[in-house]
Amino acid sequence: MTKKLHIKTFGCQMNVYDSQRMADVLAPLGYGATDSAETADMIILNTCHIREKAAEKLYSELGRYKNVQDQRRARGSDTLIAVAGCVAQAEGAEIMRRVPYVDIVLGPQTYHRLPEMVAQVTRARDVKSNGVNCRGQGVLDIDFPAEPKFDFLPDVRVEGPSAFLSVQEGCDKFCTFCVVPYTRGAEYSRNVADVLAEARHMVERGVREITLLGQNVNAYHGRRNSGSGRPAGLGELIRELADVDGLDRIRYTTSHPVDMDAKLIQAHRDVSELVPFLHLPVQSGSDNILHRMNRRHTRDDYLRVIEKLVTARPGLKLSSDFIVGFPGESDTDFEATLALVSEVGFIQAFSFIYSPRPGTPGASLADRVPEDVQSDRLTTLQALLNDNQQAFNQSCVGEVMPVLLDRHGRKPGQLAGRSPYMQAVHVMGPETLLGEIAQLRIIEALPNSLSAILASPDAGGRSMQETRRVAV
Ligand code: SAH
Ligand code: SF4
Ligand code: F3S
Repeated sequence: MTKKLHIKTFGCQMNVYDSQRMADVLAPLGYGATDSAETADMIILNTCHIREKAAEKLYSELGRYKNVQDQRRARGSDTLIAVAGCVAQAEGAEIMRRVPYVDIVLGPQTYHRLPEMVAQVTRARDVKSNGVNCRGQGVLDIDFPAEPKFDFLPDVRVEGPSAFLSVQEGCDKFCTFCVVPYTRGAEYSRNVADVLAEARHMVERGVREITLLGQNVNAYHGRRNSGSGRPAGLGELIRELADVDGLDRIRYTTSHPVDMDAKLIQAHRDVSELVPFLHLPVQSGSDNILHRMNRRHTRDDYLRVIEKLVTARPGLKLSSDFIVGFPGESDTDFEATLALVSEVGFIQAFSFIYSPRPGTPGASLADRVPEDVQSDRLTTLQALLNDNQQAFNQSCVGEVMPVLLDRHGRKPGQLAGRSPYMQAVHVMGPETLLGEIAQLRIIEALPNSLSAILASPDAGGRSMQETRRVAV
């Protein structure tokens, strides 16, 4: 590699996957990854628009990269600056206007065109260095092209035993608070054959665990191959993936409660590779707020889905997302959220204060909740969620769990990885276990991780992976 590429990623796992794909598409042009922005020939900011603070971060980061660009120019080197992701999609023209040193602005659906954009900017730079006035040489591409980017990206490069695989993009749900349907566009599912090919490619390169990604991943309905035919749902896709030799663990995120269909629930019953853990955002425990959010389900519907999941896979645990202070949220509505949390006992969760996003229906709703009430509610909710999380972590002490050891721990001789429930676990163990799924006995629950010892295969102990199969 002759040139250095620095990518800074904000937002969700889809962006993490996309950042890797942008690196893949630029590799043939001679770009290799660097962690240091200061030495980079090209910097890409992959942005998130989900909450106000996420977008603010972009402008402060850009200021920092302008200094890098200036300093490198003073030394005779150039730095291309590109803004990708959801802020680029939502505010691309404004970024181009406001930030003249940004060279490329591209939306999430046009990453396969990145080499062409780089070539265009580089050509304009050459012309400029020959003394020609070349104003407005920046490239803006925020199309939702007819051709899916996936068909034009090179083979994915993987590092380590755990990988993301994007199977679905965009969203047609239009929750009233959310920008995703606008920034990522309409729902699109990759076909089954392509997903399987990418999974096999990953497994051949040492991947043991795949997390299937989509903004609304369980709305997945991919064709079997590029031709016609009945689409397969996520449950069917998971069954096919489970047949890939060497793929030991499957996760998927993020799901919407209304798309948890019978086949997907049955996959939780039948597919042992599927972890007994699911992130299923509910946002609120109040029917009134769920309706105002256009979530298309009630609190009871949500509880029923969980009941079916846990019947199918005893021991399955849940995590969720919550928004507090959505317009119209009364004390009673908020209490319904607290009650739901107590009832379900989520083992992890993300919770946020509602952030009105320009262009979404929620932004023009009346009955805004005052900021101090919003932050009080967030504090109360987070305390309860944290209690649940700590209680679950404590309950794991003494259990034996399969942990995918994918990295070194902080201490010499220590390895670290994730439990089936995404808990960080560390253990003293031989280097040969790196990249392996090891049976570990949890001996202590610390605030942010679990401490474990190697469990010998005949050590007995209850295994949290042991599940009883029952009919859905
Ligand atoms: N597709 C997922 C969520 C994607 S966004 C789903 O359907 O649940 C991730 C999380 O960000 C959401 O679950 C929500 O809790 C939060 N979020 C989205 N928009 C928000 C907003 N305007 N204000 C605050 N939180 C928001
Ligand atoms: Fe956003 Fe998720 Fe709702 Fe889609 S389903 S609009 S991604 S919160
Ligand atoms: Fe953010 Fe876009 Fe993901 S808005 S959460 S990066 S889909």
